Amino acid sequence: MKRDNSFEWHESPLESLALEALKVAVIGGTNGLGRAIALQLASRGAHVIVVGRSFKDSEVQNISFVQADLSSMEVARQIAQQIAPETLDILLFTTGIFASTSKQVTAEGLERDLAVSYLNRLVMLNEIAPKLRRTKNSLGFKPRVFSMGYPGSGELGTIDDLNQENSYGAIKAHMNTVAGNEALVRVAAERYPQLNIYGLNPGIVRTNIRDNLLGENSWKSYIIEGIIGWFTQTPEQYAAKMVPLMVAPELEKRSGTFYNNKAQGILPSEGMTPNYAASYVEASEELLKSKGLAK
Ligand SMILES: NC(=O)c1ccc[n+]([C@@H]2O[C@H](COP(=O)([O-])OP(=O)(O)OC[C@H]3O[C@@H](n4cnc5c(N)ncnc54)[C@H](OP(=O)(O)O)[C@@H]3O)[C@@H](O)[C@H]2O)c1
Repeated sequence: MKRDNSFEWHESPLESLALEALKVAVIGGTNGLGRAIALQLASRGAHVIVVGRSFKDSEVQNISFVQADLSSMEVARQIAQQIAPETLDILLFTTGIFASTSKQVTAEGLERDLAVSYLNRLVMLNEIAPKLRRTKNSLGFKPRVFSMGYPGSGELGTIDDLNQENSYGAIKAHMNTVAGNEALVRVAAERYPQLNIYGLNPGIVRTNIRDNLLGENSWKSYIIEGIIGWFTQTPEQYAAKMVPLMVAPELEKRSGTFYNNKAQGILPSEGMTPNYAASYVEASEELLKSKGLAK
């Protein structure tokens, strides 16, 4: 990952932020990094809707829950309406899994990792963007969208086999989601001038993201996540860096840019040119169409 040295900002500590005016939706805010960010935003007064499958924070003030299985594009489209996009200041996508060793296909005919970690974001964003507020909020910013993935890592995906119909591999499948999420940020920055969109790369953090590959509660997961936890920051430490960044005034003119786990700017992957990103999103929309999942 290469640093983007054009980005400089004044980092305010989390404790200094007053976010009562903010309405935020965290798609994938029931666990891991999305949950840590949702909790910290709520602790500063923001009103947060989290979307996911299982909610753990019903006792927490300022957080409400919408249950959804976002492996379905039909459900993703419904949820996009349900979260009242016209009221949102920030939309954060953190939904994700890691592809399994053997191919999993959703009831709608999509490779499961592609559906959960990437395609539902494309579907939701296309639904939500036209409905977002067209004015700046009281903090002085346009609606902001953050998409978490692994941008800047050089992954370009397998554009001619997004649904892994010719050959399957877990890493290859997951890299299609990594490339898709990076492409989506570049394309949406052009397609939707009414919003500002950014890509977040959290690096490696101990969460449940690898359960589908390693096996939930398996010894493999225990050992690998244990080692990861030993050397890396916790979801809470990561969130404490991200929340101030997400509301920073310095982001306002930087739609389409990317940030690492230290809240520093990073450059897009080499090869993820505007043309390639557009082709990637176009191929994704063609795939949805071929499965009868486009509107
Ligand atoms: N952790 C890392 O090392 C790492 C590295 C690089 C990139 N990332 C990216 O960071 C983001 C967050 O990952 P994480 O590490 O926080 O993972 P995580 O702990 O597994 O959390 C993933 C979130 O996605 C939700 N989710 C999964 N399947 C879903 C489905 N079918 N329908 C609805 N929601 C679903 C989960 O909700 P439920 O628990 O309610 O099902 C949870 O809220 C992802 O985009 C991931 O690719 C993480």
